[in-house]
Amino acid sequence: MAVSLRCHRTVLLAVAFCFLPCITSSLNLEDPNVCSHWESYSVTVQESYAHPFDQIYYTSCTDILNWFKCTRHRVSYRTAYRRGEKTMYRRKSQCCPGFYENGEICAPHCAESCVHGRCMAPNTCQCEPGWGGSNCSSACDSNHWGSHCSNRCQCQNGALCNPITGACICTPGYRGWRCEAQCEVGTYGNGCQQKCQCQNGATCHHVTGECKCSPGYTGAFCEDLCPPGKHGQQCEERCPCQNGGVCHHVTGECSCPAGWMGTVCGQPCPEGRFGQNCSQECQCHNNGFCMSSTGQCLCSPGYTGERCQDECPVGTYGAGCAKTCRCKNNSKCYHTNGMCLCEPGYTGETCDIRLCPEGNYGLRCDRKCPCYAQNTRSCHPMSGECTCQPGWSGLYCNETCTPGFYGES
Ligand SMILES: *[C@@H]1O[C@H](CO)[C@@H](O)[C@H](O)[C@H]1NC(C)=O
Ligand SMILES: *[C@@H]1O[C@H](CO)[C@@H](O)[C@H](O)[C@H]1NC(C)=O
Repeated sequence: MAVSLRCHRTVLLAVAFCFLPCITSSLNLEDPNVCSHWESYSVTVQESYAHPFDQIYYTSCTDILNWFKCTRHRVSYRTAYRRGEKTMYRRKSQCCPGFYENGEICAPHCAESCVHGRCMAPNTCQCEPGWGGSNCSSACDSNHWGSHCSNRCQCQNGALCNPITGACICTPGYRGWRCEAQCEVGTYGNGCQQKCQCQNGATCHHVTGECKCSPGYTGAFCEDLCPPGKHGQQCEERCPCQNGGVCHHVTGECSCPAGWMGTVCGQPCPEGRFGQNCSQECQCHNNGFCMSSTGQCLCSPGYTGERCQDECPVGTYGAGCAKTCRCKNNSKCYHTNGMCLCEPGYTGETCDIRLCPEGNYGLRCDRKCPCYAQNTRSCHPMSGECTCQPGWSGLYCNETCTPGFYGES
């Protein structure tokens, strides 16, 4: 009974009944690749049949003499047995077309052997990732990956594609799962593992690490300022600054030395100003000349002092107060040109000429000097006042020095 039930369940060919125990085989009937059909066979059986035979019976005769001696024939039957052939049917299981028996299972058969893969269905290879072709013998080209090389590589920027997983192997300088991005700023090279060495705001080439200097810098790592006289992008610009002006290494703007101004330092400071940027005010008085670089005052003749604020000291005159006045007899000396301003009674360039004859004084030179002449150096031509020789004193120069003193006055 159990056997017959199983038959019903696994019937592949439409058969309505199962009247003999199913033919057992080593194949698993639940294997979807097992096919079955019915085959006929004959068995020898004892069969009964109605065997005819000739039955003789007696009957009354028309001939009176032989009354009841007459015989008649009739065909009669009796049960007999004989050997017979009987056609029977049984289910036969075997691997479906395209499959072959391999142990307990029906394995698909591939006419070509699957070189890098498995035979999955009749004449159908399932390739291992990385292999393609009908017999899985050709490796994936660089643009495809996976089983049967059926996936397109997504790698960019020259990256290689792993033929098995499709993973991208980036070329130096790129990153991201499709190698779509350049290395992050500050890194470069294989796997973006290298650290950029560029300085001063330079950018680093994502592949080679080469530094691209920002304007004003030079050197392999952009560590140096542009050399003197150069500036700007790649230090290619010429410096236009004159008079010792210094170029800014980036912008080229001139930084002028003290005393100069203008975009290329071509203009001296305007009058009255000096120093860096001509930003300071000169302090020179009395027409003193201001040095535009330092602000130092060059005084005009007759003046001295840091700001030319002082007249020359008494007795000196001229440029730098370097000349000595020659004015005599208490005359005033002009600090600028040394000219003498004579006291009344004197004249001459140095006021050394008495207007009155020797020994006289007064507006009309009509008065006699009261001085002791031999002890007197001079008698004032207007006042008659006596100026004594050394060793003498007193109003008229008639007194010797007080004890303990000597000399003039
Ligand atoms: C696989 O197929 C290729 C061409 O499709 C053929 O050249 C090669 O001989 C085959 N290899 C095997 C082992 O069948
Ligand atoms: C000169 O001018 C520049 C630009 O205006 C400025 O940066 C600099 O500080 C100035 N220097 C002086 C000494 O004033």
